Amino acid sequence: MVTPESLTESLAGATSALKPQVIAWRRHLHQHPEVAFQEVATSKFIADTLAAIPGLAVIRPTATSVVAELRGALPGPTIAVRADIDALPIHEENAVEYRSTVDGAMHACGHDGHTAIVLGLATLLASRQADLTGCVRFIFQHAEELSPGGAEELVEHGVMEGIDQVIGLHLWSPVPCGRIGLISGPAMAAPDTFQCTIIGAGGHAAAPQQTVDPIAIGAQVVTALHQVVSRSVDPLDPVVVSITQFVAGTTFNVIPNSAYIAGTIRTFDPVLRADVPQRMERIIRGVTEAFGAKYEWTYEPGYRPVVNDPALTERLAAVVERTFGAETLLDLRPTMGGEDFSAYQQQAPGVFAFVGARNEEAGIIHPHHHPRFDIDERSLDIGLQYLAAATFDLLGMTV
Ligand code: NI
Repeated sequence: MVTPESLTESLAGATSALKPQVIAWRRHLHQHPEVAFQEVATSKFIADTLAAIPGLAVIRPTATSVVAELRGALPGPTIAVRADIDALPIHEENAVEYRSTVDGAMHACGHDGHTAIVLGLATLLASRQADLTGCVRFIFQHAEELSPGGAEELVEHGVMEGIDQVIGLHLWSPVPCGRIGLISGPAMAAPDTFQCTIIGAGGHAAAPQQTVDPIAIGAQVVTALHQVVSRSVDPLDPVVVSITQFVAGTTFNVIPNSAYIAGTIRTFDPVLRADVPQRMERIIRGVTEAFGAKYEWTYEPGYRPVVNDPALTERLAAVVERTFGAETLLDLRPTMGGEDFSAYQQQAPGVFAFVGARNEEAGIIHPHHHPRFDIDERSLDIGLQYLAAATFDLLGMTV
């Protein structure tokens, strides 16, 4: 009889046998990164790898995504597992043997690891097809890093049809390798963006009285916008407004016509999400009007916030404790980063987990999207064990 204990034991054995293969996949992907919407060789590699696994039905919903389905011999629920596959336009500065071979492209967020883990999961579960109760859909999603993202597109292509629950993970450099973080409820923010052009009237730098100086006005706008969060939002509500671009001028003796300001707004709460951009525009309108300038304002909504289903989070926390021991589980705080995993959570209850990938002694300490980002590769096996244990549990195979 299969008990949770015996399954956990055999699970560790099974994933450990796959370890060298998963590391090899990850390193191959790491050496050949492709940025969002351009994952041509990456998706071909994934599709070819999946095609060699008996029992999988592989489809290509879009040019650079891959979905595989494993139908168990016995009836049961349908679970989706998602991996994102894209890299970033960053030049890798690591000197590792598996460093990126592509100038200006790098897997600096760990999506190479996510892909390798879910390829490992497909291999592992396919070997259990005869006693699998239900169906597992493996979603290899393109373009997580670039809005509008690949998730929404895949949902439109029907990849969530018939799905009862959806799970995914992120290898996470702030968390030490060996620990798994789960967040119940709101976990990752909505990453919206804004752009503002302040239109003044340029002229000679020696005669400012004849101009409407967009740089001086822009500086006031930036200062005032920073007060939206600190002075008008409840301090207990998480909101970030970051101004990340201020571009104006061409030389030292010319006051330019316009100044360009852009940045990001991060929120969880839908009311604040709608409200903060309005407050920002009101400030821009007031400041520019006061100085006789005009403005153009564009607000672009990004991904929805990632909100983990509380009941499913509790269930998966129990899976982590049973599989690895209670000390592995980390009650993480939400992050203001964004993720389009949220698109799947609109269709079915879902949980996005954070698998620790940091190793201080080995110098694996750099944040995501850093040219020296790396992962402790032991996190690959931990991620695989977690997803396998979670999938078995959701398929009802541990009872
Ligand atoms: Ni990422």
